[in-house]
Amino acid sequence: MKVRKAIIPAAGLGTRSLPATKALPKEMLPIVDKPTIQFIVEEAKASGIEDILIVTGKNKRAIENHFDSNPELEQDLEKTGKSGLLKLTQEITDLGVNLYYTRQPYPAGLGDAVYRARSFVAGEPFVIMLGDDLMKDKLPLTKQLINDYDKTHASTIAVMKVPHKEVSKYGVIAPDGNIAPDLYNVKNFVEKPAVDKAPSDLAIIGRYLLTPEIFDILEHQKLGRGGEIQLTAAIDTMNKIQRVFAHVFKGERFDVGNKEGYLETSIQYGLIHPETRDALRKYIKELGKKL
Ligand code: G1P
Repeated sequence: MKVRKAIIPAAGLGTRSLPATKALPKEMLPIVDKPTIQFIVEEAKASGIEDILIVTGKNKRAIENHFDSNPELEQDLEKTGKSGLLKLTQEITDLGVNLYYTRQPYPAGLGDAVYRARSFVAGEPFVIMLGDDLMKDKLPLTKQLINDYDKTHASTIAVMKVPHKEVSKYGVIAPDGNIAPDLYNVKNFVEKPAVDKAPSDLAIIGRYLLTPEIFDILEHQKLGRGGEIQLTAAIDTMNKIQRVFAHVFKGERFDVGNKEGYLETSIQYGLIHPETRDALRKYIKELGKKL
């Protein structure tokens, strides 16, 4: 079956980016001039995804507004002859994917947010895309997972080698031999292990391709770490019943869900954005001399 559907969980409180995220959804924080969630939707589109469910929560209305039209703004841009900006604005509404929204009433964990997509997914294989992680590679990471699925028909989770001292921030896999250069069998999936208990340095990085059987498991999943329904625990259970592979990502990953990563990503993207790259490069060079 073709992978056509994606879930973007966007109900989190964004505590790592406070106070900016007190009233503003963290998904709307811009990288140069584009909200992070737009990068995710564009990755989905570029990977052949047709339908996207965004799981939102309180204070998240700005996300829906961003992907909606804004007639007053568009009229103004037209009247004042700002055709470039008009095109940029209208493109967001005409992305060519169907967007759906549902709300998670309580922050009850990633597993709970995903479970809310059960009837949307309706028995098809699907992807989950976490908004904190922006990925850069020749082929979008979501498309890489879909290509794996087309060969294996199995769930596949994206992982990446991270510095050992950082493993406790992630879901981590215990690899069990590879079936292709970048595709591993997995013994266990462990959510946020202590650094000395981590089975490897291969961390889950926010792109998952799952078969719909995950919902049967999430339905009965007990509360885990932090009193939340943990997606990683459900994936570990599913791996005991059907194969779940890990795909090692070799591109670049930017974690925009914390202050330092957000700043680094903004600089990196600012250095390639046509409107900012020359001036920013000059500024950084001068700043480097002073530091
Ligand atoms: C979530 C997942 C974790 C994964 C991480 C990737 O954690 O629970 O397994 O490694 O995303 O960004 P969070 O960052 O929401 O705490």
